[in-house]
Amino acid sequence: MWRSRVDAVFALGTPTANGEIEGLGKSLHEQMRHDHLITSKQLSRADIERVLDHAAEIDADRSAVADRHADTLLGLLFFEPSTRTKMSFETAMKRLGGDVVDMGSVESSSVTKGETLADTVRVIEGYTDALVLRHPKQGAATMASEFVDVPLLNAGDGAGHHPTQTLLDLYTIRENAGLDDLTIGIMGDLKYGRTVHSLAYALSNFDTRQHFISPESLQLPREVVYDLHQEQERVQIREHESIDEVLPSLDVLYVTRIQRERFPDENEYQQVAGKYQIDTETLDAASDELTVMHPLPRVDEIAPAVDETDHAAYFEQAHNGVPVRMALLDLLLSNGGEDNE
Ligand code: NCD
Repeated sequence: MWRSRVDAVFALGTPTANGEIEGLGKSLHEQMRHDHLITSKQLSRADIERVLDHAAEIDADRSAVADRHADTLLGLLFFEPSTRTKMSFETAMKRLGGDVVDMGSVESSSVTKGETLADTVRVIEGYTDALVLRHPKQGAATMASEFVDVPLLNAGDGAGHHPTQTLLDLYTIRENAGLDDLTIGIMGDLKYGRTVHSLAYALSNFDTRQHFISPESLQLPREVVYDLHQEQERVQIREHESIDEVLPSLDVLYVTRIQRERFPDENEYQQVAGKYQIDTETLDAASDELTVMHPLPRVDEIAPAVDETDHAAYFEQAHNGVPVRMALLDLLLSNGGEDNE
């Protein structure tokens, strides 16, 4: 499904009248090179499966791709704090034989002299083969991508999207519960949580029942709900204020942090802070098979005692960031491993 110009290379195609998938005859090199990943809306089911399958290959045997991108430099531009996303991109690039150049903190960069984002990305694209951008402003990645030719990966734009997190989330869900016929609860800050927006869109490629659990003031943005309703054949969505009514039916519970830094007013944050917490007692009502996920960092949403249970998958989820980002970079920067086939 083609949803924007910059997404063209990512779409592996939709079935034609005779049922064939357009584009599958082309190599991934042709399809994915020089493209940007801005939102998960641009990912078709085939795109997702291609990245996840390649991540699984890499997970099973990293050595096959160890030198594949020996001359490649990835530019890291993080205008907001990051631990996992930045370090796992760095690890992924290095594990593929390449290296990174890092803008460093905003305070130590020319941004403090008043440089625009457009100028910054145009300069750094001249040093590197691909860019990873995190920025506090929603829409920043779309804007920046219009100024560069190298692939630009959105690593979080304000309360907008975080598509590479979604790919590792999907990988984790696929490993633990499977992606079709899935009942998932997504809980916490659904308004400002960019990982939630990206995950909900990407899951709408699969047969899913999506339960959104949040205080009323932090519900999913209405445009996201509207978009998900367009996928009614595959996707059922429900919104709840309490987890109790849905917990027993869930295969996966995806917990998120209340995004304190996005609240215009600290009092509003205080009204919802600490309201949605999971501990081992809460989980007594869940299925034994329930997988609990969280993009991390957590504050107090999941009690540490849950870490010791078989439900906890959030550290595994964070670790999956490396093979998934390796797979994504490999597909974007080469012909997706077909060199060696
Ligand atoms: C998330 C983010 O930055 O949106 N973190 C991450 O990338 N793993 C979630 C969050 O900050 O709560």
